[in-house]
Amino acid sequence: MNEDLPNLDLELLPPNDEDGHKPRILLLYGSTRERSFSRLLTEEAARILRLLGAETMIFEPSGLPLPDDAPGDHPKVRELLDLVLWSEGQVWCSPERHGSMSAVFKSQIDWIPLTLGAVRPTQGKTLAVMQVCGGSQSFNTVNQLRVLGRWMRMLTIPNQSSVPKAFMEFDEAGRMKPSSYYDRVVDVMEELVKFTRLVRGREAFLVDRYSERKESAEELSKRVNQRSI
Ligand SMILES: Cc1cc2nc3c(=O)[nH]c(=O)nc-3n(C[C@H](O)[C@H](O)[C@H](O)COP(=O)(O)O)c2cc1C
Repeated sequence: MNEDLPNLDLELLPPNDEDGHKPRILLLYGSTRERSFSRLLTEEAARILRLLGAETMIFEPSGLPLPDDAPGDHPKVRELLDLVLWSEGQVWCSPERHGSMSAVFKSQIDWIPLTLGAVRPTQGKTLAVMQVCGGSQSFNTVNQLRVLGRWMRMLTIPNQSSVPKAFMEFDEAGRMKPSSYYDRVVDVMEELVKFTRLVRGREAFLVDRYSERKESAEELSKRVNQRSI
């Protein structure tokens, strides 16, 4: 990946305060096309994140089987799950297809189990959502990604990016051209790093729910009662 950042005014970036380890951000995109604009946008976001002091990993969806169409220990499924567990925050970038997120994008989320032991692997992690459009700017896909983030119990940040006519926004080398859309991606990544730092160490507190504590207490007393019969 070309690491030059010609579009970024480095002087205007916030200080990269290191607190413990770097924020670990996993980036997912939703296409297997060779020149995929959701991948190019994801790679651009990853460059910006690294400059903001984050560590980044991008999952390549090609070769991931359809949900439930392979055993859970399939190497691509394991790779995805390991990356999800490694991450503290995520970026989801899907193309819009027929007014919704792509099947390639959704398959990745559908492979993430709701619980692993007692814990949801995505629970309490931060999330930024982005989409690329072939036509005019739409927010259908980012809105759906927000709903999906809620389902995965993630903390989705307020800012988001939608790039219209994505085929116009990247040069031959696959770099995003300077534009207000590029600046918006910088804003979104800056906000994601800030939220990830704020949330760090407080994930369990933030996702702890009364109804679930009540359910576990009831479950425990049922087991104790059964043993004493
Ligand atoms: C089957 C199909 C449906 C599409 N539907 C939409 C759509 O509803 N809205 C839109 O803006 N673009 C639509 N597009 C254009 C894609 O969003 C655009 O080509 C995008 O760059 C694809 O993502 P990728 O470059 O990462 O593969 C569609 C493209 C295909 C092939």
